[in-house]
Amino acid sequence: MEKIVIEGGHRLVGSVKAAGAKNAALPILIATLVAPGEHRLDNIPDLADISSTLSLLGRIGCPSLVGPTVKVDTSRIAFSEAPYDVVRKMRASVLVLGPLIARHGEAHVSLPGGCAIGVRPIDQHLKGLEALGAQFELSGGMVHATAGRLRGADFTFDMPTVTGTENVLTAAVLADGVTVLRNAACEPEIEDLAGFLNSCGAKITGAGTPTLTIEGVARLSPPSRPWSVVPDRIETGTYLCAAAVTGGDITVTHTDPSMLTAVLARLEDAGCIIDTTATTIRLRGPERLKPFTIVTEPHPGFPTDMQAQLMTLATLADGRSEITETIFENRFMHAAELMRMGARIETKGNHATVQGVPRLTGAAVMASDLRASAALLLAGLSAEGLTEVLRIYHLDRGYDGMVEKLRALGARIGRVDNDLRDPEALRRAITAA
Ligand code: EPU
Repeated sequence: MEKIVIEGGHRLVGSVKAAGAKNAALPILIATLVAPGEHRLDNIPDLADISSTLSLLGRIGCPSLVGPTVKVDTSRIAFSEAPYDVVRKMRASVLVLGPLIARHGEAHVSLPGGCAIGVRPIDQHLKGLEALGAQFELSGGMVHATAGRLRGADFTFDMPTVTGTENVLTAAVLADGVTVLRNAACEPEIEDLAGFLNSCGAKITGAGTPTLTIEGVARLSPPSRPWSVVPDRIETGTYLCAAAVTGGDITVTHTDPSMLTAVLARLEDAGCIIDTTATTIRLRGPERLKPFTIVTEPHPGFPTDMQAQLMTLATLADGRSEITETIFENRFMHAAELMRMGARIETKGNHATVQGVPRLTGAAVMASDLRASAALLLAGLSAEGLTEVLRIYHLDRGYDGMVEKLRALGARIGRVDNDLRDPEALRRAITAA
């Protein structure tokens, strides 16, 4: 196993290209299942979660070829199962449920269970698919689903759920008649999925709003041109934070500022100077950050996936910041690790009060989930001395080439074996690029 070692205190400067969005690439790759044939997809990030998805598609009988353009052949479905060993590594595997039911009439998917950030039930996925005519049986930790031809329905989600909306949407495209999904999630990744499905011949309107209308069609086929996945707004935001915590000057290219309105507004509150064009965002960090308030909300509100990174900013601000997490019930695991680096944070339920300090000090810290890992890396970039981030497999699930990208911006950072402890050897590992 490896850990990431960072020598903090170096100002990051330069430009970095945003990768394709993990949370758009995953549902789109899985949605290829509803359109039999050879698919070509561009801007798919190189991530552990993408490899897991391609191997899941392979187990279903759909081989893929990885390259600058990812190819998936969904002509044949041989198996309709997502077993526990796959789902346990990647919750988004439950996204096969809708497409498999719609195309194949059955699906057997392991229940994902909870994870580090919360209980994360999938009741809304099941209720929505049930409204379309699917039937479920739970046994042995698996959901066994069967259905004849699905029928359009009018369904209202109890709360906006991103993958829940994607799962039901991807089934409804092949249902008989019209489906209306209300209180749907509005994230840009759902718009991208709907755009992809429409390019396969689906008839979806309203994506990006809380009401989706889907006119079912009898069959779909792969689009004639490769579909290019939208940029990763969370990765973009994370690099902007790297400029903010190091007083740096970073431009993220190949991105889309319109997907980050709430994040950019809070970064401005924190004293950062931001300039945008249609596809780039430049952030110049201040000498000392200012305190701010964030409340996480479904899109277009402030995204929960940027909460941990902004908490790192708050630990360095000149005053008291307030952070409220309303999406997941246990998403402050990074707070205790940041406190090991000298941060002053008090958490009470879903609320954190952060009293900024002039600087953090390097320490060994443990990543608990993907975005917590990013928050700890950011802390390490700003801290005095050496920081070691353990359990970095979380990071590999969602950030494409992060260590290399940060190095190119001037960070002293490297990956080393977990057992390497000698401070001089660690220092050498991060300077020998
Ligand atoms: N919820 C239910 N029942 C359901 C579904 C959701 O109670 O059937 C609750 C959840 O427990 C949570 C809230 O609804 O409290 C919203 O969860 P949502 O379903 O929207 O989350 P998700 O679809 O499981 C996606 C992203 C997450 C991101 C959230 C929120 C993907 C693959 N994952 O998860 O991304 O945090 O939406 O925006 O799209 C990440 O990338 O690090 C990550 C965790």
